[in-house]
Amino acid sequence: MHSIRQMLEDKRAKARLGGGQKRIDAQHAKGKLTARERIELLLDENTFEEWDMFVEHRCIDFGMDQNKIPGDGVVTGYGMINGRMVFVFSQDFTVFGGALSEAHAEKICKIMDQAMKVGAPVIGLNDSGGARIQEGVASLGGYAEVFQRNVMCSGVIPQISVIMGPCAGGAVYSPAMTDFIYMVKDSSYMFVTGPEVVKTVTHESVTAEELGGAVTHSTRSGVADLAFENDVEALLMLRRMFNYLPLNNKEKPPVRRTDDPADRLDFSLDTLVPENPNKPYDIKELIVKTVDDNDFFEIQPDNAKNIVVGFARMNGQPVGIVANQPQVAAGCLDIKSSIKAARFVRFCDAFNFPVITFVDVPGFMPGTAQEYGGIIKHGAKLLYAYAECTVPKITVITRKAYGGAYDVMSSKHLRGDVNFAWPNAEIAVMGAKGAVEIIFREDKSDPAKLAAREAEYKARFANPFVAGSRGYIDDVIQPHETRKRICRSLAMLRDKKLENPWRKHGNIPL
Ligand code: HXC
Repeated sequence: MHSIRQMLEDKRAKARLGGGQKRIDAQHAKGKLTARERIELLLDENTFEEWDMFVEHRCIDFGMDQNKIPGDGVVTGYGMINGRMVFVFSQDFTVFGGALSEAHAEKICKIMDQAMKVGAPVIGLNDSGGARIQEGVASLGGYAEVFQRNVMCSGVIPQISVIMGPCAGGAVYSPAMTDFIYMVKDSSYMFVTGPEVVKTVTHESVTAEELGGAVTHSTRSGVADLAFENDVEALLMLRRMFNYLPLNNKEKPPVRRTDDPADRLDFSLDTLVPENPNKPYDIKELIVKTVDDNDFFEIQPDNAKNIVVGFARMNGQPVGIVANQPQVAAGCLDIKSSIKAARFVRFCDAFNFPVITFVDVPGFMPGTAQEYGGIIKHGAKLLYAYAECTVPKITVITRKAYGGAYDVMSSKHLRGDVNFAWPNAEIAVMGAKGAVEIIFREDKSDPAKLAAREAEYKARFANPFVAGSRGYIDDVIQPHETRKRICRSLAMLRDKKLENPWRKHGNIPL
């Protein structure tokens, strides 16, 4: 009996030590935490229940039968974040570089299957050299088993990936299919092919950081949602975001009591929008002043800044916010902003977040770069996302809502539940100048006449009342009462029921 207990303790100690003290020290020297330290920081104290600590790989080639470490390079199990259940896997770079073997993949699949059964999110902490080279196709099979589960979990339980070391080759596709990707600056990278292959094939010289570091993916490619300075910051921010999320798609996001009054007025908003319609202002000021406790959790803050998306609460209820940002490219919709917002709206719809949309959009971005890049298909993604969305949708037009972009941005016609406009809103096919240049082309040579036409068009259309007269907006509200009116609307919409017709799935323009 004693020897069995001793064996248990020995095995646990061996598993806890991973690849050994030397490799742990090397991990720390790179500014990285170990797999277990990361789990400790992520979860509430003493809540981690570890599974499969004794799993070992079954590879016998290349002397691997003599080289086994219990746990096989990934720590898996479940625990709590602020008292709410979550499943976790954390790859251990000190064990075979965190490389994924068949057994390592089985451990990940096991917790994903269990998470689906009980309806709890999965968080993956990725730090891996990719497929376990000694295992060959068994490892590739393991990846594909994880991929299949990522897709089955999608829209059922939230899935979040944190990239905290290498993530290369086909391995990138598991995080890519999860809902959010966090990255750590200077110690993580993601790419399909690394710098050496890039050099050989395209003759470009690029570092791993430039090619697929946290800054690259959070500012240029949009692959990562957020980039952090170090492991600790990434994990603590993940705990914060987790508080907004429901555990699965059958639950509503958790309501939290607030002392911020639902009917709080903010008179500073009455002067937020400048008199000159071409002058920018910061839409984030409106967001922050409207939501509970001025607390806004922004997603993708450094990518496609002409649209702002993120989580907040209104009278305690978590909501998704989407807002055009007039400060960047006049708030135009382009390829990147359409994709960013479409994906966020679909997440909100899948996980029961009401969507609040603040509109100030002069239209879609013109130009060959946009057209050749497929703005037609990409812009349609946002349109499609809003149109299929069945959660409560509340829209506030703060200034411009022009052309197709008016339709796209959660308009009444796309089943917007409550559509407000501020008094100075301009809802029309296009701006007055462009409009008169087309419909009064014959007056082009007479600037005075054209100016008069422009003033006439402005007086007729650059206001919210034409749309109001048709019921396309439900009310024109004072900026200072925005929070109060949204909170009331949310209360009215609390038990909203709307279903789309049965189908296998729609065919969103990809
Ligand atoms: C087995 C691996 C490994 C791997 C690293 N190791 N990657 N073992 N399979 N894929 C081991 C190393 O042998 C080493 O063991 C330890 O992990 C640490 O690796 P180092 O090279 O010393 O660390 P570092 O210098 O930090 O470099 C990390 C690295 C590098 C950049 C990840 O190890 C590397 O390039 N590895 C190979 C990456 C790769 O080609 N993977 C396959 C990609 S294809 P010791 O015992 O010395 O500590 C792929 C396809 C997936 O992943 C397809 C899915 C569909």
